[in-house]
Amino acid sequence: MGKEGNGKLAGLFGNPFTPGYGRRPPHLAGRESQIYDIFKHVGATANGELVARDVLIYGPRGSGKTALLREIAEKLENLGVHTTLELMTATDMQSAEDARRELIGVVGQPLWEALKPQEWGLDWRGVQAKWQRGELSRNDVRKGLVAKCKSKPLILLIDEAHLMSPAACGELLNEMLTIRGRGGPAIVVLAGKPQLAELGNLSQVSFLERGEIMSLGLLDEQSSGDAVRIPLGKAGIGIAETALRRVISECQGYPQFLQLWGSALWQRASELGKKMLDDSDITEVDPVMRLEREEIYLGRFAGWKGADRELLVDIANHLVRDGWEERPKLEAIVKSILLRQNRESDECAALVDRMVESDFLWRPRGQPRMLPALPSFVSFVSKQGEPGYSD
Ligand SMILES: Nc1ncnc2c1ncn2[C@@H]1O[C@H](COP(=O)(O)OP(=O)(O)OP(=O)(O)O)[C@@H](O)[C@H]1O
Ligand SMILES: [Mg+2]
Repeated sequence: MGKEGNGKLAGLFGNPFTPGYGRRPPHLAGRESQIYDIFKHVGATANGELVARDVLIYGPRGSGKTALLREIAEKLENLGVHTTLELMTATDMQSAEDARRELIGVVGQPLWEALKPQEWGLDWRGVQAKWQRGELSRNDVRKGLVAKCKSKPLILLIDEAHLMSPAACGELLNEMLTIRGRGGPAIVVLAGKPQLAELGNLSQVSFLERGEIMSLGLLDEQSSGDAVRIPLGKAGIGIAETALRRVISECQGYPQFLQLWGSALWQRASELGKKMLDDSDITEVDPVMRLEREEIYLGRFAGWKGADRELLVDIANHLVRDGWEERPKLEAIVKSILLRQNRESDECAALVDRMVESDFLWRPRGQPRMLPALPSFVSFVSKQGEPGYSD
């Protein structure tokens, strides 16, 4: 095998970057303040304190919610804290009963082992069966949960929390509140897409006032650079400042793109045996990255069809031209387009909700305006209206 063949093989193994979803990045950049804020509550709970608030994190697809939850879990594990720690997804939580079952499922086995209350039965399976037959009252179970949390604080990290039904979400949060109210240290950290906060899922349980809420958006330039430069550096690969600047500007602070770029650059350096990447490497990798990005955008745009698609393109044009708007103004614009399309104006709220759900727009915490989840995606959609672009 020639030198080039060996080089190509070298590019297949050991890549530290993690393009894709749900994988921990080699360097979690720019989330120090969020980690600090989450740890204020989670750490106190691990310490046996009764905190006042649960935590809610929301952000668009690929903003790094899963990565952040994993980081929190790993930090806790490394600290060796004495807690029941569970990182789970909310996929199966559609009703209040589901939420209770999950909660008891997490704490149930160790709960039974710790307490072995005679009246509960011989083993954990027996308890579960009793619970399902309704022979065990909610109050009994709750007493057990409180006792268990007192002996070992409960930390629940729930990903994809936007998939929970409002009933399940309300039940879970109320149950946590009750457990704490009775002296059991427990906390839940919910992470999900922006509709979790936007669609009023949580309004029923007045979480918006009671919880510690934070949003995860795009990374700033410094953090974006760190996300690529630090893992490359650890692999013995340097990158020229001008080259790094170009990567930062291409990625727009989107973690997913930073991993894609990092991965491609690492691969190139490995294949060519390069120890220092410069502008020419960026120029080489750029067309491939553009294609990748285009694929992602096409995928996101594909769900919009017919008149809805035209409407989205109109909105994108408007936003690119006049800047980002607050929701009422945006709804007014959507209504005027609906009118032009001879459609009912009461479709408006659902359409704006869909723009949030499909990661077109969102509203970061503390920001009155709806912002693009990814500025370049909005530009992409806007271009779909130009001659020669439409399908
Ligand atoms: N702070 C960060 N610094 C660098 N890379 C990051 C950061 N956060 C996330 N990533 C990377 O970005 C990609 C997307 O992250 P992740 O899957 O955690 O996003 P998500 O918000 O959970 O997305 P989804 O809504 O699809 O579940 C992954 O490749 C991850 O490794
Ligand atoms: Mg995720």
